[in-house]
Amino acid sequence: MKPLIILDTTLRDGEQMPGVSLNISEKLEIARQLESLGVDYIEAGFPASSPGDFQAVKAVAGAIKGCGVAALCRCVRSDVDKAWEALKGAVKPRLHLVIASSPIHMEYKLKMEPDEVIERTVDCVCYAKTLCDDIQFSCEDATRSDWEFLTRLCAAAIDAGATTINIPDTVGYSMSEEYARLMVYIQENTPNFGDVVLSCHCHNDLGLAVANSLAAIDAGARQVECTINGLGERAGNAALEEIVMGIKTRSDYFGGVTTNIVTQRIARTSRLVSTMTGVEVQKNKAIVGENAFAHEAGIHQHGMLANRQTYEIISPDEIGLTQSALVLGKHSGRHAFAERLAELGYSISEEELEDAFRRFKELADRKKNISDRELEKLIGHELADVPEAFQLESFQVHTGNKINSLASVTLVKDGREDTEAAMGDGPISAVYNAVARVVGGDWPLVDYSIKAVTGGDDALGEVTVHVAIGSKIFTGKGLSSDIIEASLRAYINAINRALAES
Ligand code: KIV
Ligand code: ZN
Repeated sequence: MKPLIILDTTLRDGEQMPGVSLNISEKLEIARQLESLGVDYIEAGFPASSPGDFQAVKAVAGAIKGCGVAALCRCVRSDVDKAWEALKGAVKPRLHLVIASSPIHMEYKLKMEPDEVIERTVDCVCYAKTLCDDIQFSCEDATRSDWEFLTRLCAAAIDAGATTINIPDTVGYSMSEEYARLMVYIQENTPNFGDVVLSCHCHNDLGLAVANSLAAIDAGARQVECTINGLGERAGNAALEEIVMGIKTRSDYFGGVTTNIVTQRIARTSRLVSTMTGVEVQKNKAIVGENAFAHEAGIHQHGMLANRQTYEIISPDEIGLTQSALVLGKHSGRHAFAERLAELGYSISEEELEDAFRRFKELADRKKNISDRELEKLIGHELADVPEAFQLESFQVHTGNKINSLASVTLVKDGREDTEAAMGDGPISAVYNAVARVVGGDWPLVDYSIKAVTGGDDALGEVTVHVAIGSKIFTGKGLSSDIIEASLRAYINAINRALAES
């Protein structure tokens, strides 16, 4: 057996994706799900980057007991101190130090000579080792670095105490075969490599992140860094679900490589991350896309009916795509509701259950049957709680194709109702203008999307918006069987998030 360590960096590299900004309770929710998914390490953030990141790493470190928690820091002593301060409560803490190693990064970003980079690495890794035993060292932009220099840098980091060496393809530049050769080169030419864990970390700029990660594993990498749904800056990081299912489905090829991932929890993890981040999973995405197990062509359907394996290399239930025949509705009681949530894998507090049940009842009054998928969404929205400075009380809109829309919206703040009316080009802009009047100030909308959670004419609509405040973008999410209400909830949610941070 060759156990492969999975380091999930959804909460660090994934969260660097433009427009994604998770609050602490959302990060904790995702962290708990990753723990139950069976990842070996959760990279929870970069504590020196902001007070919010510091607090989030601290919260995750304190809450997660079933796997390691890592925090990123640059090779700067004060970064290491911040990271350790946030991380030290973890059951299995890991300090992850990074410094750039490519000529372009060293000259233009670090403004350091190669030998200074080595000196700084040694100093910071030695210092980090006095705080934590488990040290990961990354050479940023490794794939555009000089290979001989990389081995000198890695050797120095190992001598200083690094126990994992990560070789990131930071800009997604490498070809698979080339990346595999680099992995072999590092192992063979770093004199003191010994039983240090070699790790791969791939970005998807050329669409090769998963292919390159798999090539690296084949070439001896014992750790892979990845994110749920391939979230990440630019084109994203390697997707955890694709790597894990690649290894599992082609165990014949990967001979003996195993992971601790409970693959039956993949679908749920993907949906939770999508709900929390507001980043939709592309329909035809491998493994977790809506169409990943859909068969349209008649010839395929014919084959599938005779034997599913004609066109299906993975069974949907291997990733947890089972559809329960049980649907909840208006007459379902609190007990049935709680039981269904537990079956779906949620263990939530009494208070959260109370709120979620109230939302469920409101929904069931308008919508006959509520499916598991809708229940998951409802819970996802409940758990992504933000202090609600403003709450939606009621709204009215008068709209048509030959008139400007007119809306009136009532919000509640500190128990007091406030109503404003406004016009707009359409019903959404009218209600948004009315909200902005109640709240006061400018809340520019930069992005709006709406999606039906399930099919059917009484489908639940989920709206995701991004609101820009200065250079910061806040995500808002809203759910309702009424699309204007879902839109309003999303906008108010984004405003509440911005207010909570100010
Ligand atoms: O892509 C990268 O180089 C990184 C490092 C911090 C590991 O994310
Ligand atoms: Zn990265």
